[in-house]
Amino acid sequence: MNRRDFIKGTLTLATAAAINPSNLFFVRADAAGNNSWWQKKSVYQVYPKSFMDTNGDGIGDLRGIINKLDYIQSLGVGAIWLTPIYSSPMADNGYDISDYTAINPTFGTMADFEELVAEADKRGMKIVMDLVFNHSSDKHPWFLESKTSRDNPKADWYIWREGINDNPPTNWQSIFGGSAWEWNDDRGQYYLHTFSRYQPDLNWENPEVRRALYDAANFWLDKGVGGFRIDAIVYIKKPEGFTDGATDSEGNCSIHNMTANQPGILDFLQEFKREVFDGHDIFTVAEANAVKPKDLPQWVGDKGVFDMLFEFSHVNVIFPEGEIWHKAADFNLVEFKKALSASQNATRNSWYPIYFENHDRPRSIDIFFPEDADKKLAAKALATILFTLRGTPFIYQGEELGFGNADADGFRNINDYDDISSIGQYELGYHAGLSEEENMKIIRKYSRDNARTPMQWDASKNAGFSVGKPWLPIHKDYKTCNAAEEDLDQESVLIYYRHLSAMRNESEVLINGDYKEYFSDNEEIYVYTRALGDKKIGVAVNFTTHDVKLPFNIFGGCTKINGNYHGEEYFLRPTEAIIYEFNN
Ligand code: GLC
Ligand code: CA
Repeated sequence: MNRRDFIKGTLTLATAAAINPSNLFFVRADAAGNNSWWQKKSVYQVYPKSFMDTNGDGIGDLRGIINKLDYIQSLGVGAIWLTPIYSSPMADNGYDISDYTAINPTFGTMADFEELVAEADKRGMKIVMDLVFNHSSDKHPWFLESKTSRDNPKADWYIWREGINDNPPTNWQSIFGGSAWEWNDDRGQYYLHTFSRYQPDLNWENPEVRRALYDAANFWLDKGVGGFRIDAIVYIKKPEGFTDGATDSEGNCSIHNMTANQPGILDFLQEFKREVFDGHDIFTVAEANAVKPKDLPQWVGDKGVFDMLFEFSHVNVIFPEGEIWHKAADFNLVEFKKALSASQNATRNSWYPIYFENHDRPRSIDIFFPEDADKKLAAKALATILFTLRGTPFIYQGEELGFGNADADGFRNINDYDDISSIGQYELGYHAGLSEEENMKIIRKYSRDNARTPMQWDASKNAGFSVGKPWLPIHKDYKTCNAAEEDLDQESVLIYYRHLSAMRNESEVLINGDYKEYFSDNEEIYVYTRALGDKKIGVAVNFTTHDVKLPFNIFGGCTKINGNYHGEEYFLRPTEAIIYEFNN
């Protein structure tokens, strides 16, 4: 355990208290509208590998992000979340870390990183790092040592168990498919991996492990980062006993059902908060799949651990049986609205991230709207919701340009996919008896590579992303769907994003107003209001591709202030989204 750092932690806290005691209880939105910086602007998520390549190796880099900071700033952004840029063998594109305090040379150097922080700062933006603390890479020196013997100093840093009669210790299936246990010859034991076998789970019960992780996070705070997105955090606490779990109709028992949100996890998280987050003017957003609305007060808000939390219920309405792609259901608007309203209502006294996309999901316009919907209208309709729900809007690169799922000749069969989970899901489909054609149709629709094709900057070769061969194919539509083109077109998705983002950042009622949903059982439209004092805004979105009339006219006498169509009808046109202001 590193005593110096424990003491340092205390000192930071004491200094912050001396300067401004209220910093210790970071003021969240209150009725008087006292908001933290990260509540007043959007967050932009960058997937560095696919953002902008400056040295022609076909892979995005930190200099590429520096070059595009003005573009990001133009979207009303206060922070940029970078998916992992640390040293990594890239089995899961950086979510397999081999050194928590080094920059992957493919992305650049520490000097580039420092420049990025400084240049972003000049534009009023903070850099937010992704902490992947549930597991490391199997090439991390800690694991390399741990696997050598049962009595080395790091023997207990990972989760090792005996098998049972030549079988793994339990029937748990990893999130990327296949057993969650991997055999190791040197130790004659199995190790646990929630994700791929290249991502062994760290043993959080060991205080030295926790100390090492906190030190790594503090290293980045010292570099001036503005916060953290914390990966897969619900899995850090394992159950007391490891036993087989119930299987589904295909004979699988997902590790998620056995290890997510175990009793005792909050003790670890409270310590994490004390040792790292407290006393800093940062924000934290945890990836926390399946935290129930009723448990939210322990997770977010004044008594909670984090400032915000990504849970999956609204995006996972298409996976009612868990994230098994070939068991996906059609999009269900009523369930989607129910999930959004549940989190809006559960965080009245705290705060929430609003998101529809990230690097793990297919593109939203291909999931939440009928196939025949106009893609541009659909992108703007979702943007309307993104900027008018209560919470910090998270924009995922390309979403603001109306990107759809990957459509490129380069994606023909499974070998063309890079995403490790697509390969696991393909195997699941294969074992479930899907034909090659059916299986590939599923992969094409849900693959995480849909969100990872390179950014489309302009109509030049490789969409201006790289002068070399891009690591993933470029979408076919890049000649018309790109940042340069959209910048000049007043009707573009990009310009709509800029308008709405600016409107939201300046609107007290959109930042802090109370949320109220209408017509929750209606299967065609999403309608809600936001109200603060005597100010009230209404939003109506048509999720179908036909005209729909509101069941009763709650917006009579209101003024339309924005929307994805010009003018107004007495009904909502296909995929129409409108923002109204109530007149006093
Ligand atoms: C999170 C990340 C995802 C990664 C996984 C394992 O879900 O968002 O990209 O594969 O954790 O680290
Ligand atoms: Ca590069």
